[in-house]
Amino acid sequence: MTDLYAVFGNPIHHSKSPHIHRHFAEQTGQDMHYNRQLVAEDAFRDTAAQFFADGGKGLNITVPFKLEAFALADRLTERAQRAGAVNTLARQADGLLLGDNTDGIGMVHDMHNLGWELRGKRILVLGAGGAVRGILQPLLEEQPASVTIANRTREKAQQLVMSFQDLGTLQACSFPELAGQTFDVVINGTSASLNGELPPLPAGVLAENAHCYDMMYAAEPTVFLQWAEQQGAGKTADGLGMLVGQAAEAFYIWRQIRPEVVPVITAIRRQMN
Ligand code: ATR
Repeated sequence: MTDLYAVFGNPIHHSKSPHIHRHFAEQTGQDMHYNRQLVAEDAFRDTAAQFFADGGKGLNITVPFKLEAFALADRLTERAQRAGAVNTLARQADGLLLGDNTDGIGMVHDMHNLGWELRGKRILVLGAGGAVRGILQPLLEEQPASVTIANRTREKAQQLVMSFQDLGTLQACSFPELAGQTFDVVINGTSASLNGELPPLPAGVLAENAHCYDMMYAAEPTVFLQWAEQQGAGKTADGLGMLVGQAAEAFYIWRQIRPEVVPVITAIRRQMN
């Protein structure tokens, strides 16, 4: 019988996840079907419960339901616990729901695929919302020299430092406090790119050959990546590879097979242009 999967979100029409999982299923010969489902804001719990009662095997969860998915899970991986949010639910053999968060590992794997070194690097992360909370554990596991979190509201960065400081060297900053510091890798985890805005970065924060990553993706370079090019970044990348990477990790949780991501990133990029 064909195994059923879906992505729940609101809005959901833009989701590329069905497309990505169709590629993975074809590539690996898996008998599975993956839908996208628009879920009313107040109906996540009931809709998810119904999906699993009907025999569904796994869900991806996107905005705005990642916290509710966290609350729904019977078991959580450590990275989901740390992230405080769940983007993948899997029904296990005993019927219980495992909640995981594959966003951060998806980003780190994408950086590996791009040939970016993280170990021993000075990393700057912009933003301190849910998106950043989701990547910190996998990032710190790469053993960078340090991770600095810069946020408009400094207290939110400080709270993240408190939650993750047992995993590595972490600092909180406001944007003006970045003046005079340099970084090897800069990751934009703010929602500024969504609105075509640029976080208020002082000039001169990029070390020589710095690598800049925007967790957002778009057909055209984001404002942040345009800024990075102007500042002389060595390499830049947007978050399309992260999107495919988080899907690959979810696929692995469900099917215990690791799909190839590079051909899928290429196919989706081609469709976007
Ligand atoms: P998400 O779940 O996408 O992380 P969020 O929790 O609303 O969304 O967090 C958005 C992040 O983007 C926050 O860190 C926010 O900064 P504040 O905490 O100071 O509000 C940041 N952000 C949004 N627009 C920004 C902008 N134009 N410049 C800098 N930071 C911005």
